Amino acid sequence: MRLIAARDAHELARLGADVIAAQLAREPRSLLALPTGRTPLGLYEELARRVRAGALSLRAARIVNLDEFLGIPPGDAASYAAFIQRHVVAPLGLTAEHVRLWRGDAADPLAETRALEAQIAAWGGIDLAILGLGANGHVAFNEPGTPRHRRAHVARLADSTRAAAQGPDGRPAPLEGLTLGLADLLEARRLLLLIAGAKPEARAALHRGIEDPQWPVTRLLGHPDLTVIELDARAASP
Ligand code: GLP
Repeated sequence: MRLIAARDAHELARLGADVIAAQLAREPRSLLALPTGRTPLGLYEELARRVRAGALSLRAARIVNLDEFLGIPPGDAASYAAFIQRHVVAPLGLTAEHVRLWRGDAADPLAETRALEAQIAAWGGIDLAILGLGANGHVAFNEPGTPRHRRAHVARLADSTRAAAQGPDGRPAPLEGLTLGLADLLEARRLLLLIAGAKPEARAALHRGIEDPQWPVTRLLGHPDLTVIELDARAASP
């Protein structure tokens, strides 16, 4: 694991964007798996700034998102698909045929997990998976206890995950989500984990450096190319 300490949210965004820019310089057609949440917002703004400045292009890049709420259609503002549309697809000028987001309202969720994995395979596998961290150690919607070999699946969401996800409209988050599995993430050629916010136990579990099934993030330690950019817990969150 390569651990980089970011002094503030701007540095986290800049360093994260540098990792993505380096990946796209190596392979413009790279497949990126992208997270939602507060942590990557500054990163997406920084990427958009570089695109506007003509310093970066994602026209050839392929995009999937990590996870989605089961039963929430992509057109719903509370969906992760809508988040990625708003913060990534539109501002970064992505090519529509290169974007495959989870369909939370899929009639057959199991078929949807297989379809998303098939698209990833058709695009040659994930080149760079960018991940956030949940307070209980989840990555994407791989909740505590998820086996390392688990592929894309329908996940029962932890209470803390649902509480953190509750939107401003007060609608309770769904009980289940669709997510890439730990196996899908570990198969990515590179991993970039972004950590911000008060998640003391999850941070501590990662720093112990031992794989622990109760802390899914520690499974990433088994990956040969893991970069972690960590914002000090006392710094203002993005
Ligand atoms: C949600 C998402 C995760 C994300 C996590 C952290 O649970 N499913 O993919 O990493 O929240 O969110 P935040 O960055 O807002 O702390």
